[in-house]
Amino acid sequence: MQFTFYGHACFAVEVEGKKLLFDPFISPNEKASAINVDEIEADYILISHGHEDHIADVESIAKRTGAKLISNFEIISWYGKKGIENGHPMNHGGSWEFDFGTVKYVNAVHTSSFPDGSYAGNPGGFIITSKEKTFYYAGDTALTMDMKLIGEYEKLDFAVLPIGDNFTMGIKDAVIAADFIQCTKIVGIHYDTFGYIEIDHTKAVNDFKAGGKELMLLEIGETIEL
Ligand code: NI
Ligand code: MN
Repeated sequence: MQFTFYGHACFAVEVEGKKLLFDPFISPNEKASAINVDEIEADYILISHGHEDHIADVESIAKRTGAKLISNFEIISWYGKKGIENGHPMNHGGSWEFDFGTVKYVNAVHTSSFPDGSYAGNPGGFIITSKEKTFYYAGDTALTMDMKLIGEYEKLDFAVLPIGDNFTMGIKDAVIAADFIQCTKIVGIHYDTFGYIEIDHTKAVNDFKAGGKELMLLEIGETIEL
């Protein structure tokens, strides 16, 4: 499965020939200035919550590509009012079978509102199950006991976890989260974008290694096979 990192919490995976884009925040991200947002293709855009650093480019990419949005009910409704009606609303604990695999919307401990201050529902993460690979994207979240359920529920091939601290889990909690979800292959996101979330890369990788886990920190624009 091809995995491309677009900076901050934005990444794309190709599943069963479909392009899934997560939390697009590219054009306002100075660190991602080499990425041309107008060239990103998407069949689906999955949105974890309503904060600006997860939705900045949703509208332009959705309107250009016609990608279907997948998120919670409130976020899909908000985009519906903006004229993006190709959306699939979900809520926590619910699953739906798409043409690439199954999506389950799961808990995240965080906040969620739109840049205009309106209510964006409760924040979440996604478990994607497919014939190719099964993975978990945590969204912005604290370490939570609910993650133990994910480890018992699915055999994950890899997980995408926030590690930048301050607004989400930091390294120490993310290592524990990896234990809870019973996953050894972790892609780190939500770090270095702003001053509050700068991390020491070497220490982060070593802390995961000490916990028996592999932490992957990708260059922005890098594609790897997972
Ligand atoms: Ni957030
Ligand atoms: Mn965020």
